[in-house]
Amino acid sequence: MSSDLVLITGVTGHLGFRTLIFALQAGYRVRAAVRSQSKANTILSNPMFKALNRSSQLSFIIVPDLTVAGAYDEAVKAVNHVIHIASPIANGQTTPEEFQERLITPAVKGTIGMLESALKTDTVSRIVITSSVVAQVPAADFMGKPDYVVEASTRTATPAGPFTNELEAYAASKVTALNETEKWMATQQPQFNVVHIHPSYIIGRDDLVTKSQNVITGTNAVPLRVVLGNDAPYPTPGLSVHNDDVARAHVLALDSTVPGNESFIVSYNPEGTFDGTTWQDATEIVVSEFPEAVAKGLLPNNGKIQSIPLRYDNRKTEETFGFKHQSYAEQVKSVVGHYLELLAQE
Ligand SMILES: NC(=O)c1ccc[n+]([C@@H]2O[C@H](COP(=O)([O-])OP(=O)(O)OC[C@H]3O[C@@H](n4cnc5c(N)ncnc54)[C@H](OP(=O)(O)O)[C@@H]3O)[C@@H](O)[C@H]2O)c1
Repeated sequence: MSSDLVLITGVTGHLGFRTLIFALQAGYRVRAAVRSQSKANTILSNPMFKALNRSSQLSFIIVPDLTVAGAYDEAVKAVNHVIHIASPIANGQTTPEEFQERLITPAVKGTIGMLESALKTDTVSRIVITSSVVAQVPAADFMGKPDYVVEASTRTATPAGPFTNELEAYAASKVTALNETEKWMATQQPQFNVVHIHPSYIIGRDDLVTKSQNVITGTNAVPLRVVLGNDAPYPTPGLSVHNDDVARAHVLALDSTVPGNESFIVSYNPEGTFDGTTWQDATEIVVSEFPEAVAKGLLPNNGKIQSIPLRYDNRKTEETFGFKHQSYAEQVKSVVGHYLELLAQE
């Protein structure tokens, strides 16, 4: 149990909110950077946050634009650790003209800006940064079954663009942020170290979502669309991880026994394999976990999705952090269970 002060960004998102909850439960004092007071109010009024009864450990700081130089200077003052999660994700609506400004610039300037701000303190000892599987492999391999195992240390060259689709531009945002961070750390040799966490597709209950239709967004939509009877628009890499495991890893990574300047993959594999997730299995999982909802037609359960095999080595994470990744069945139970819970309330 640590009462160190942690600055967390991205707490108004799927992963960030869960990470905030785990950090508070672990005893940390948290300063949460949000874009506006109304964003802070969303957290403060959330039933799960209120039930936790840890509001005395939490304060907010408003950082309206993370791309501005010195944006985090105030936020990092007296902080012991940082968890930097805030970064835009692909939402299916970004036009090619917006790729740079909406996706790439905030990911890169937000991350490097955080390092620059932390350098001005003598208190920050560790910065945990949310990277991604897409930061480690070329976009073409990500969609095309590379013939190698992706390990925590795997890196790819920063792509120059132009980008033909939003996923490529999003991947470029994460590749660039990772590569620029490693370059910055090598040049600056700061007093703090960095831990990169690389999730695959994050699946699991999002307690900030209060309407059933809004569960079908982001990466949770991938298995949910299938059980709701919609075919996936394109083949999808067969990799997923429970949101709780990703959030837990971010908080455990603050511990000084976890080595710094390292990368950790968070992604589920069936025991003893690199087989990842077969998305289509969601239909069998809901038949066994939610038979009544299937029988009533609430889950038509006839969507189709093709999984592209991609071998992602999570072993170092399980050894270092001491947990086993939750299975795809647990991920589907979490997100479909939340969807049905909200549907029943509407
Ligand atoms: N979802 C996945 O499967 C997945 C997989 C690998 C890695 N990741 C990484 O995990 C992190 C969180 O993703 P998520 O799935 O939780 O996404 P999310 O639900 O969209 O949350 C994103 C968070 O980042 C903040 N943010 C986004 N753009 C911002 C900007 N320009 N300025 C300031 N804040 C900004 C959002 O704040 P507002 O509420 O103010 O918009 C929100 O708090 C990201 O770094 C993402 O790249 C996600």
